[in-house]
Amino acid sequence: MATELITALDFPDVEGAMALVDRIGEAGVWYKVGKQLFTACGPRVVEQLKQRGKKVFLDLKYHDIPNTVAQAVASAARIGADMCNVHALGGPAMLSAAAEAAEKARILLTAVTVLTSMDAGELAAVGIERSPEEQVLRLARLAQANGVAGVVCSSLELDAIRSACGRDFVTVVPGIRPADSSADDQKRIMTPRQAAQRGADFIVVGRPITKAADPASAAVAILNELQ
Ligand code: C5P
Repeated sequence: MATELITALDFPDVEGAMALVDRIGEAGVWYKVGKQLFTACGPRVVEQLKQRGKKVFLDLKYHDIPNTVAQAVASAARIGADMCNVHALGGPAMLSAAAEAAEKARILLTAVTVLTSMDAGELAAVGIERSPEEQVLRLARLAQANGVAGVVCSSLELDAIRSACGRDFVTVVPGIRPADSSADDQKRIMTPRQAAQRGADFIVVGRPITKAADPASAAVAILNELQ
């Protein structure tokens, strides 16, 4: 499968988000709706994306008891999302309940392993003495063993996850920057071409598109790199 571009809609309101989607036009197929936008606008934002024929990654990182998470996954599918995610730290019972709900509702389910904002010190503070790298692989394997289709991972984790979980395990990779764009607050970045060469299934790109003077050409340039 060719690497697909997901544009992150990190906006405070639906009007700003849709204005960007309309400026990007045909170059934008997948959009990521996260906690900021969804908390402000709710399902309306997903509905408006679907009306425009777009695909939606609902990035709400569910983490709760198995029944609640399974129902949330079913709800995500019902409002029109094409992909949603959970925290792998929710454990085997939660992951398998979520995976079963996702299969039934035909929504792609991915898991978050270790947030990239957490280092070894942060992990130790919550009682995890393993290195972030080991913990990422442990949770990726756990997600896979419980039927989750893939993970959201940093570009630096891509090779290790590919070796541990195989080619069919879906990888969604943020922290992507075209060679000529600013890193912003991202510390470990990869270009779209590098991520594609390493077999990322999806790349998530926010500010290099959303803050560009011409978001459509920024998206087209990234798509060209992915070819
Ligand atoms: O603007 P930028 O391209 O940095 O946006 C990346 C998007 O991916 C943001 O929505 C950010 O929250 C998300 N993300 C990330 N790193 C992770 C997981 C998600 O940057 N490890």
